[in-house]
Amino acid sequence: MPEQSPNAAPDTSRLVVDNDFEVAPVNDRLFGSFVEHLGRCVYDGIYEPGHPQADEDGFRKDVIELVRELGATTIRYPGGNFVSGYRWEDGVGPKEERPRRLDLAWHSTETNQFGLHEIARWLDKVGGNELMEAVNLGTRGLEEALDLLEYANIPGGTKLSEERRANGADQPFGIRMWCLGNEMDGPWQTGHKSAEDYGTLAASVAAGMRMIDPDVELVVCGSSSHGMDTFGAWEEQVLEKTYESVDFISCHAYYHPELQPDGTRDMKSFLASGVDMEGFIKDVAAAVDATKARLKSKHDVFISFDEWNVWYINDEPSKNPEGIDNWPVAPRLLEDVYSAADAVVFGDLLITLLKNADRVHAASLAQLVNVIAPIMTEPGGPAWRQSTFYPFSLTAKLAKSGTVLEPKLTSGTYETQKYGEVPTVDSVAVRGKDGSVSVFVVNRSMDTANDFEIKLPEGFMFSSAKADTLHEDDLLAKNTLEDQNRVVLHSNDTITSDAESGMVRVTLPPVSWTAVHVK
Ligand code: AHR
Repeated sequence: MPEQSPNAAPDTSRLVVDNDFEVAPVNDRLFGSFVEHLGRCVYDGIYEPGHPQADEDGFRKDVIELVRELGATTIRYPGGNFVSGYRWEDGVGPKEERPRRLDLAWHSTETNQFGLHEIARWLDKVGGNELMEAVNLGTRGLEEALDLLEYANIPGGTKLSEERRANGADQPFGIRMWCLGNEMDGPWQTGHKSAEDYGTLAASVAAGMRMIDPDVELVVCGSSSHGMDTFGAWEEQVLEKTYESVDFISCHAYYHPELQPDGTRDMKSFLASGVDMEGFIKDVAAAVDATKARLKSKHDVFISFDEWNVWYINDEPSKNPEGIDNWPVAPRLLEDVYSAADAVVFGDLLITLLKNADRVHAASLAQLVNVIAPIMTEPGGPAWRQSTFYPFSLTAKLAKSGTVLEPKLTSGTYETQKYGEVPTVDSVAVRGKDGSVSVFVVNRSMDTANDFEIKLPEGFMFSSAKADTLHEDDLLAKNTLEDQNRVVLHSNDTITSDAESGMVRVTLPPVSWTAVHVK
């Protein structure tokens, strides 16, 4: 890693904010997250009967508190790769009668002690959250998807809706957002399909689901990453078959600093991950627009960025268990421990989602607890916040229900191996529903601080300006069981403001994420 030279003269950057130039309202679904039956996300994560903090349903109250503080909205469930082998019926009815099954995606045993009723009840307890349910289009198809929708959304009077009532949910779950499978373009997916086959299946499932409930909002699978060989062609072929019958196309993206031949990691490219995410969104939006034009359609399809995060996918915590006689229950899987640098990249990914709020109407941070997660737990022990918790919770708090203003940003650049020349600073401004302005900004430079200047809207009267920064001199500092608050937000006291000229200035340390709130 290059040495930092904190004494070098700071770079400069400038953001001009104008109230008249709006990108789009912020859809609160942008702050969604994801609960998959994977590792310890559900079991020993949100659900741990016997834990001192467990309530009468076995839900950890300390985790519920942290989820509330995080501010996550829509929760995608139950997978992920898991859903492509899942039989939803296994997870309803008396718990003692629920079967144990092999989970092929994560080479684990699924006990089915947690299912649709439990996630709905858990979300009620968290409060104000929306369930986004995925149907299995890997090992299953149209009939099972229709059965699940009948079970979930029909008030009563039919076999499956009455079964739901008998199982304790008198009122329908009323699930609006549905994923038509998961990452069906990925060769790793159980029941992986060609674009042609998946597009045909997804179109028929969408049509059938709308016959039951015309109000559902459907997400068709886009590519599992920007770098897939089939990227672009997949979107084109799938949208051609499904355009009129879906509301969203999904994007998934995970980033990590790649290992180089000399054993170091490519931090400079990693810090510019937002550049790739931005390109991904623009490319998918172009595919949507091209299809719309070709079909002469009046219908709009938006992006559901329903998996995004930093994920060290090739590292030890992500290695599946192996062996015909080794199918553990809730093993420690994908338990990445995030550093300060990871949190800065993470914050930049959020900035990128916000900048594209006109096209991205939903997003899910993957995932919520223990599995590449902002919240960690210890069985029988505490729950704590990872470094990534902080940019998410503060952005959600300040940006929810706001309006993204067009960012007019001037910044220097630096050179990366993966993306060429990239802006050193990335930023977005959001006008809150109370009229305040929040600016989120990252300094991607490894060695140079940045004097960042915000020119606020003409005539904007403000009396206070505050900045919170996530930065550690040790880029690899992390929160752990032993040291749970090593990386937190700090008030950035370099902030100065002048209400008359409408200027706010703040110094951004190298590799840092900052939220400025002016009201
Ligand atoms: O979030 C972890 C996994 O990443 C999901 O199960 C899958 O959809 C993606 O590949």
